[in-house]
Amino acid sequence: MPQPSFTVRKSANITKMATPCLVLPIFKGGRLKGDIAALDAQMSGAISRAIKLGDFTAEVGTAFSLLGTQQTQRILLLGCGPAEDFDLVSSKKVAQSAGKHLSTTKAREAHIALESLTLPPEETASLLETLATEILWACYVYTETLSNPKNVPSLAKVSVTTAAGLTTGKARKALDAGVAIGEGVNFTRQLGNLPANICTPTYLSKQARALGRKHAKLSVSILDEKKMRELGMGSLLSVGHGSDEPSQLIVMEYKGGKAKEAPYALVGKGITFDTGGISLKPGGKMDEMKFDMGGASSVFGTLQAVVNLDLPINVVGIVAAAENMPSGRATKPGDVVKSMSGQTIEILNTDAEGRLVLCDALTYVGRYKPKEVVDIATLTGAIIVSLGHEASGIFANDDDLANALLAAGQRSHDRGWRMPIWQEYQKQLDSRFADMQNIGAGTAGSVTAACFLARFTEKYKWAHLDVAGTSFLSAPKGATGRPVPMLVEYLRARAGQ
Ligand code: BES
Ligand code: MN
Ligand code: ZN
Repeated sequence: MPQPSFTVRKSANITKMATPCLVLPIFKGGRLKGDIAALDAQMSGAISRAIKLGDFTAEVGTAFSLLGTQQTQRILLLGCGPAEDFDLVSSKKVAQSAGKHLSTTKAREAHIALESLTLPPEETASLLETLATEILWACYVYTETLSNPKNVPSLAKVSVTTAAGLTTGKARKALDAGVAIGEGVNFTRQLGNLPANICTPTYLSKQARALGRKHAKLSVSILDEKKMRELGMGSLLSVGHGSDEPSQLIVMEYKGGKAKEAPYALVGKGITFDTGGISLKPGGKMDEMKFDMGGASSVFGTLQAVVNLDLPINVVGIVAAAENMPSGRATKPGDVVKSMSGQTIEILNTDAEGRLVLCDALTYVGRYKPKEVVDIATLTGAIIVSLGHEASGIFANDDDLANALLAAGQRSHDRGWRMPIWQEYQKQLDSRFADMQNIGAGTAGSVTAACFLARFTEKYKWAHLDVAGTSFLSAPKGATGRPVPMLVEYLRARAGQ
């Protein structure tokens, strides 16, 4: 699906500008000044009347559109609130309302004029980044399997001009960063939204190979079932055993740092469909289990953004992809498997499959001697009981890593909330027939799931993000692209940016 492109233009007089849609952010209070006042006069006071009539209050996040002149066909006023209150949250709100309106306009091109917005250059740059990201998000529509897609945005090109304080180069850089994040999120959403008969483990590995071919700093290798058997990944393999789709362990290595530098690692749960297996899920909403690869898709989207941002660090992304199906070959409750770590697992519930694929991927990633490991998984329904759809659950064996993720979530408005993995919970996983069982005793389901993973991550700094409540929504049904903004922000900070 085509997405709008962004360019920086040399500042121009907006009263002389020809554009199908002129976007003007305006602070609340004060009189219209400079170019905007001139434009208002040219339009016989239409803008000031919109303000006087109360239709446009310039409250942050509000918007008002009016027809312009022959050359400036439409004008979109964006409320920015009082100048002295403008902050990161306001810039997010302004960008969101720009996205909302520009994704529904019939205009194919728009121009955003930031000259009259008196902000320090760094704040203008950050607003530009957010604008690009939000406009891209708003313009994403799923069309893949529709004969006649509706509501496809017309917008193809966006240009911007800024006040003299910000160089064209810096403005360009800010837009590029916003585009990288926006496209990363949209890629993640697209993979999530695809139906499970298209988005199989094999499809995911093809996506990885395609990404690797496109970028010189990204190399991709795929471990098939035979290779995984040789490595002793009995836990991961037990999940796809009932499926006709072969499981895949996808490894993507981004080398933006020094050759010998230890990488940051992202490990994603990639269950392309979760029926529950022999512990079959009830039928209602089972279709939503096509989103059970939300962790995996966030690894793809984050890596794509990291490559496009050209971050000066090394990152390894691992996706454990499998389909969880019941069949004559499927794993049965009570079966005992041996993980790559050597620890044995009694599978009491085949629907607790995410931790079974992740534990082997987490053992495997140890080979890279990673600086830090973050796994991302739609792991438990219980995290939705705890945190709803607002925050991703953050579990970590390292305070500094947990705090870095919390802070990154705040900055990117893609928040997480820390949960415990105390020793006291571990005894719920004791088993009579194996080193551990794959489910707890019924309470604190998200915590016991994380405690299970903690048994495989003792050798490195590790965090686990439970994104069952945040990576997709039931209404409007679809993948959100979370937690890509948080992860990109975390890695940018680790890269010193
Ligand atoms: N994929 C599910 C978790 C899930 C539920 C994600 C709802 C998104 C929305 C996971 O594999 C699962 O089935 N977990 C079980 C664990 C239980 C059997 C211990 C759950 O949450 O019920
Ligand atoms: Mn499950
Ligand atoms: Zn699952």
